[in-house]
Amino acid sequence: LRVYVPQDTTSLSLGADAIAEKLAARASADGITLELVRNGSRGLFWLEPLIEVETPQGRFAYGPVEEDQVDSLVDSGVFDGQCHHPLALGKTDEIPYLAKQQRVTFARAGVDDPTSLAAYLQQDGFLGLKAALKLSPQVIVNEEKKSGLRGRGGAAFPTGIKWQTVLDCQAEQKYIVCNADEGDSGTFADRLVMEADPYMLIEGMVIAGLAVGATQGYIYLRSEYPNADRILNAAIAASYQAGYLGNNILGTGQAFDLEVRLGAEAYICGEETALLESLEGKRGQVRAKPPLPAIEGLFGQPTVVNNVLTLAALPAILSQGAQAYANHGMGRSRGTMPFQLAGNIAHGGLVELAFGTTLRELIEDFGGGSFSGRPIQSVQVGGPLGAYLDESQWDIPLDYEAYTQAGAVLGHGGIVAFDDTVNLLEQARFSMEFCAVESCGKCTPCRIGSTRGVEVIDRIAAGDAVEDNLVLLDDLCETMTFGSLCAMGGMTAFPVQSALKQHLASQTESEEC
Ligand code: NAI
Ligand code: SF4
Repeated sequence: LRVYVPQDTTSLSLGADAIAEKLAARASADGITLELVRNGSRGLFWLEPLIEVETPQGRFAYGPVEEDQVDSLVDSGVFDGQCHHPLALGKTDEIPYLAKQQRVTFARAGVDDPTSLAAYLQQDGFLGLKAALKLSPQVIVNEEKKSGLRGRGGAAFPTGIKWQTVLDCQAEQKYIVCNADEGDSGTFADRLVMEADPYMLIEGMVIAGLAVGATQGYIYLRSEYPNADRILNAAIAASYQAGYLGNNILGTGQAFDLEVRLGAEAYICGEETALLESLEGKRGQVRAKPPLPAIEGLFGQPTVVNNVLTLAALPAILSQGAQAYANHGMGRSRGTMPFQLAGNIAHGGLVELAFGTTLRELIEDFGGGSFSGRPIQSVQVGGPLGAYLDESQWDIPLDYEAYTQAGAVLGHGGIVAFDDTVNLLEQARFSMEFCAVESCGKCTPCRIGSTRGVEVIDRIAAGDAVEDNLVLLDDLCETMTFGSLCAMGGMTAFPVQSALKQHLASQTESEEC
């Protein structure tokens, strides 16, 4: 009898280890031979820990399970596959939250033990790499361009063009750097990749290495993800042993080495040049661009810096074809996007869909409204530097260009919901304070502007010369937007001004009432 209990951070924090132990003890007491698989999460976090039982009819899911419910689950027949317990969710694949998604990158998430190379190979693992090994670097880059893949870290820069720049550089040493410093509020898609399907990321990085001629890769991982660190390192070790990493990838004579390097909990180290400084052992401070990292990156060498999700999309593109990937999406936003539902939401978790869906569909159909049961008032999209969107904006298609036009960003796909008890003036202050706390201090508009900005918002909150201070804040936001060296100071105006605008609109509304 095979039973699956997830080993990702969310499930562990909700007692998955204790549940696994109790299931094993109960099976042994009942004389049942149990094969306990510690799989990754399916990304349905509102149902974690979600345990699954394999039966001849398929896999059946139960959740969210608590340790003291294990006995009642077993007593009602969970091991026989005929359990009608209140936690029974039916066949896993038919849970609507999962069945309605268009999973490409996350197709394997939660299916098996993420550290098992054999399980990865059984699920079409390394087919993308095998396809890439038959192609010239330029053809791999051309495939990337055809797929339309754009950087999933937030900036949405065309991946194929970035790679072309690195491929065209002449250098003894080139690098692939994976940005796994997932710092945006409400985001967890990178973590889910690393904890549920780490070989996919490894495969993507080797493909990127072959495409641009890089032989060394680094995964720059935030130290707040110790579980991802453990799982990634286990997968890297197994990949070396089986010849998918090292000096002679599967006998071709191509080389690619890979290491995980841990960050030190600084948001700014998610900015690519600060990340490179940190990787070089220096203080994580932003570098002026140009030169672009693609030309002079890590240790001054041509470097591809891509987000986890960008690299994780490559195996599917190479194995299933660039066109299959490009067939998803709308306009210039091709492929799928893993949206991450968080905050005050009933059904938080990962929803992978083609670009073009709407926020309303995500928060109402998938999210099931707010966790508190109160009306959702505002939704911040794209992390702490993303705008707050009110209900009038929830039908805008989730597409990079449509969001830019609306003065918002998709960013890394983080979606944080707030109900009608939110104080949006406080949120505006929080966004400005976040910039002050996380600023690397290199440029004046961000370093000084954010601190002054907090003071101005405090004066507005205190009712002190409100009109004048609103004008001053607008002026300050404009200076930060156009005068900052990187997105940290350059994008802080998005959340500050959008939250403030909604706060002022709601004040006017209540005065009119
Ligand atoms: P950017 O637009 O300056 O650059 C995007 C990427 O394209 C960079 O890797 C850059 O080096 C590269 N690039 C630009 N022109 C190129 C060329 N001609 N050839 C080759 N490569 C080229 O944006 P940036 O500052 O890298 O990122 C800002 C974004 O980061 C924001 O939109 C924000 O949403 C996102 N962000 C994501 C976070 C996360 O946790 N994932 C955290 C904070 C911000
Ligand atoms: Fe540093 Fe802020 Fe300037 Fe970016 S905008 S370089 S974080 S001071």
